[in-house]
Amino acid sequence: MGDREFVGRTALVTGGSRGIGRAICQRLARSGAQVAINYVANKTAAEETCQLIAEENGAGEIYRADVSDPEQTSDMFDAIEKDLGPVDLLVTNAGIARSADSVNMTGDTWREIMRTNVDGTFYQVWRAKGGMIDRGYGRIVCISSVLGLMPNPISAERLIAYGTSKSAVIGFVRNCAVAFGPHVRVNGVAPGWIDTEMTEDVSEDVRRRLIEATPLKRVGKTAEIGELVHFLLSDKSSFTTGQTHVASGGLGTLP
Ligand SMILES: NC(=O)c1ccc[n+]([C@@H]2O[C@H](COP(=O)([O-])OP(=O)(O)OC[C@H]3O[C@@H](n4cnc5c(N)ncnc54)[C@H](OP(=O)(O)O)[C@@H]3O)[C@@H](O)[C@H]2O)c1
Repeated sequence: MGDREFVGRTALVTGGSRGIGRAICQRLARSGAQVAINYVANKTAAEETCQLIAEENGAGEIYRADVSDPEQTSDMFDAIEKDLGPVDLLVTNAGIARSADSVNMTGDTWREIMRTNVDGTFYQVWRAKGGMIDRGYGRIVCISSVLGLMPNPISAERLIAYGTSKSAVIGFVRNCAVAFGPHVRVNGVAPGWIDTEMTEDVSEDVRRRLIEATPLKRVGKTAEIGELVHFLLSDKSSFTTGQTHVASGGLGTLP
């Protein structure tokens, strides 16, 4: 299935062990990329992603690193460069949300979310960008969220730190696109609700109200985000950089 544009390219997808990241890994492998699948804790899930790729005759390797730690992140890039070659396609997908993230959250929760979602995105992009600029080829997609564009329109659980962290990612994408052009493109994807382990604890009532408020009347699938990320990494989007593209079924982005 799909074209083979990424044959000979190396892709790194952080948080590739589960959820949205797994679907992105699978999509890029179908286009011929060698995929470095990052995880932090769930090795079994990362191996499952690798196995799913192998079942479609794709190429994947797993790499453990906590993206909120700059040394671990840099060491992971070293290992990937040794095994698979330099990273041409980077998807900064690893991210966390915390249910304690509301008006009553603590500074610890705020810092934990910022460390992974903002600092982690920075460490990954900073480690990747020099080589991309030198080689005259690079594609980066940073995963944000529709909650980076607006507060949660449904739930009283406002996810203040999470939303703020995802707004920062949108600003980071804009700035990096200007700084790293003309041969490196940097874009963002802002998903709405996608069924993954991240959203499984949210109440059925909130889920129902959210679907009701969504013009497409459903939640999203991980594969739909995989397609959009693939498009933004591919030459099909060759004149697009610095933009964060919303995939929310219309939730929150339409009057
Ligand atoms: N699901 C949604 O509705 C939704 C909506 C908008 C945006 N997003 C964003 O999409 C991205 C993926 O979300 P998801 O729903 O697929 O989440 P998920 O199912 O909870 O998976 C999170 C992934 O991130 C990895 N991860 C977490 N912290 C990490 C760290 N410090 N270093 C390295 N990897 C780390 C996890 O690795 P382990 O498996 O090893 O734990 C896992 O692979 C996140 O950035 C999230 O904010 C999700």
